[in-house]
This record gives sequence, structure tokens and C-alpha cells, in this order.
Amino acid sequence: MTQTLRANRDRLMQSLDELGRIGAYDAGNGVMGVRRLALSDEDATGRRLVMSWFEQAGLAVSIDQIGNAYADRPGADPALAPVMAGSHVDSVPTGGRFDGALGVLSALEAVRTLNDLSITTPRPITIAYFTDEEGCRFGTDMLGSAVATDRIPLADARALRDADGISVGDELDRLDFAGPEPVGQRRPHAFVECHVEQGPILAREGYDLGVVTGVQGISWRRLTLVGSAAHAGATPTDYRKDAGLAAAQINVRLREMCVSGEFGELRATMGVIRPEPGSVNVIPGRVTATVDLRNPDADALAAAERTLDNFCRELAESSGVHITWQQTARTPPVIFDEHVRVVIASVADRLALRHRPIVAGAGHDAQEWSRLCPTAMIFVPGENDGISHNPLELSTPEQCGHAADALLNTIVTLAGEGA
Ligand code: GLV
Ligand code: MN
Ligand code: MN
Repeated sequence: MTQTLRANRDRLMQSLDELGRIGAYDAGNGVMGVRRLALSDEDATGRRLVMSWFEQAGLAVSIDQIGNAYADRPGADPALAPVMAGSHVDSVPTGGRFDGALGVLSALEAVRTLNDLSITTPRPITIAYFTDEEGCRFGTDMLGSAVATDRIPLADARALRDADGISVGDELDRLDFAGPEPVGQRRPHAFVECHVEQGPILAREGYDLGVVTGVQGISWRRLTLVGSAAHAGATPTDYRKDAGLAAAQINVRLREMCVSGEFGELRATMGVIRPEPGSVNVIPGRVTATVDLRNPDADALAAAERTLDNFCRELAESSGVHITWQQTARTPPVIFDEHVRVVIASVADRLALRHRPIVAGAGHDAQEWSRLCPTAMIFVPGENDGISHNPLELSTPEQCGHAADALLNTIVTLAGEGA
């Protein structure tokens, strides 16, 4: 009979707390948020802390050229490909303690538990964190895993710049995270990522875990709207080329597209709207904005992009505001591997955890690895309607403990395959 193992939930929560103190900020009302933007000093401190934990767990750590960290635990048969588990350490500007961190630290907890029990799995195990999953600083999400899995060339990734003109390459070099391992070398037997759901479904329906069936498509654009800065009081309405107004009109149109039903389950967000010069008495002459479109259906996502293009063209003609855009990230919908999903579901059954299939609303490193090897994810319910990218993000020790147990047993099952 297969042995069912239990992770050390207290140790996991202690590590989550400790990592959560790096980049912590007071979000008001006694709530602490996390700000560890990719390749910032805070991100580097978090990465180094986690790396020290990898080393304390006896793992051999290797950093690749895009700054992804891999920590290898030998298996009984070094000729077999490893099972890989991991996620990210970076956060959005208003992050919580769990997004990404839970996936890295629950994988670490799996290894710590195997160490405690002196268990050697037939296959090696690799735990990892990937550079700039969030994409909010340099504009492209899942960057490190996309480079590691050959979707984005290393040179293109290094050349990406943040709003201050600082490049990924500059920051990797400054922080000493451009490692010696060539990218694109790793070919795991399977990849598993544990992550907070970041939505309300599991908690609302009383489930302990979600077995993630796939990830919706994502399209990110950076818009530049150029009108004419002019006097707020002295410029008659019909003389204005107001870039701020045009940005607002695009935002309203996006909402209309979402509620129209014409594009299936479209979600749209204008997360950056930056007017220049940004003065109370000057009509905005220029706006930089972003559009985030998501849809589980590839055709519906493409149709939404076309509709947005047409709207921007017509708006430019009617308003006199010049509108250009750049595609900064685009990932198609992904379906995860059936076998890995079955392994996760049967592990959850053994642990007597209630689980259901669920589609991921967010982007994840796992979707990049799914091109190279059988991959799936474990979702963990969250309190406060699963709110995430917000300091209120919270999964309880019980919820995190269930996820760690499920990840541990999933890794052990996969690491015993084909031996
Ligand atoms: C990452 O969290 C994303 O989906 O934006
Ligand atoms: Mn994440
Ligand atoms: Mn995130």
C-alpha cells in the first residue's frame, strides 16, 4: 500500500511568515502587504533567504542565466529525469504573503519532510523559483520560466526595461543573479506548482483543494495616447485633444465588451493609466496605459483584441488623439496534463481532502513548463473571497497544510514513476 506522508505545517507557516517580512509594508488598519518587485533589492533579499533554506536542506543550488534558482535533491537513480516543483518569490506592488511564496515554500517543505523521514525517491526532485513571474515591473509575465522553456530568447528578456529605463539584464548583473547555468537545459519528468486560487470558488463551495485543469489566455498591451497638453480653462471643449479622456473611453469600452457576452468569459483591466504632465490645470497631452485581457477561449480572446483595435482606430480619428500600442505579453490558453491531474486528485482522496477541477484565472510558471513536460497545479482556497494581489490575501494554516500534504504526496508519487 502507498504510504501517505504529512508535511510539517508549522514549519511551512514559519517560513511563509519569515519570507513575508521581506518587502513588507503597512497597508493600513494593521494589515501588512508585501512589495517585492522582480529584481528589486527586496526580491533579491527574499531570493537569498530562500536559497539559504535550500542549502540548509542539503540541496545543490544552481542559478541559470535569467536568474531562475534550481535546488536539486538526488534520487536513487540519477539517470532518471527529476520531478520539478516551484513558483516565484517576486510580488506585485500590493501583494500578499502567499502568491508564489506558497508554491516555493510548500515544495521546500516537501523536501524537508523527506529529509526528516530519510526517504530517497527513485527520481531526483528539483525545487525552483523563477524570475519575474508577475511581469508588473518589466512588462512581461512568467519571464524566467518562459526563457527556461525556450519561449522567450534570453537576450530579449535581458533587454526588457522598466518605467525608469533599467533593464532586466542590468538588474540581474547588479544583484549577481545572472547565474552560470545555461538556460533551456532542464527537461523534467513532470512539473507541479502549488498556488493560492486567487479567487472565491473553492472557499465558497467548501473545497480544500482545486485540481487545476488549465490556464486562460492572457494578452497584455502597453498603449501610448498622444493628444495635446493645453490650458484647462482657456481651451474650448471642441479644441481639445485630451489623451486622458481617450484613455477613459477605452476603459469604458473594455467594460462594455466584458458585460456584452459577445466575447465569452472575457476579463479586461486597465491597470496603468499614467497621464502627463499630470497637473490639475493641464489637459493631459499624453497617457501611458496598459490593457490586460484574459479569456479561456483563444478565438474569443483574439476577437476581443480585434474589437479593441477597431475601437482605438475610430477613437483616434474622432478625437485627434494618436493611439499606438505594443504587445508586451501574450500566452494562449493552456490545458494541463490529464495524468498529473489524476495523480493530484487521487492523492487528495487518500488525504480525505475535498477537491474539484478548476481553471486558473492568473498566469503561472507551470503553464510555461507544460510545453516541456506533463504539468498540473494544486490550488489552495483563500479567505476574504480569495482576494489576491492585495495585502488581504490570506490562506489559513489548515488550508496551506492541506496543500503542502497534497504537494508532498504528489511529488513522491511522480518521483516513483518509471523507476
Ligand atoms: C500573475 O499573477 C498574473 O496573472 O498577472
Ligand atoms: Mn503567482
Ligand atoms: Mn501574482
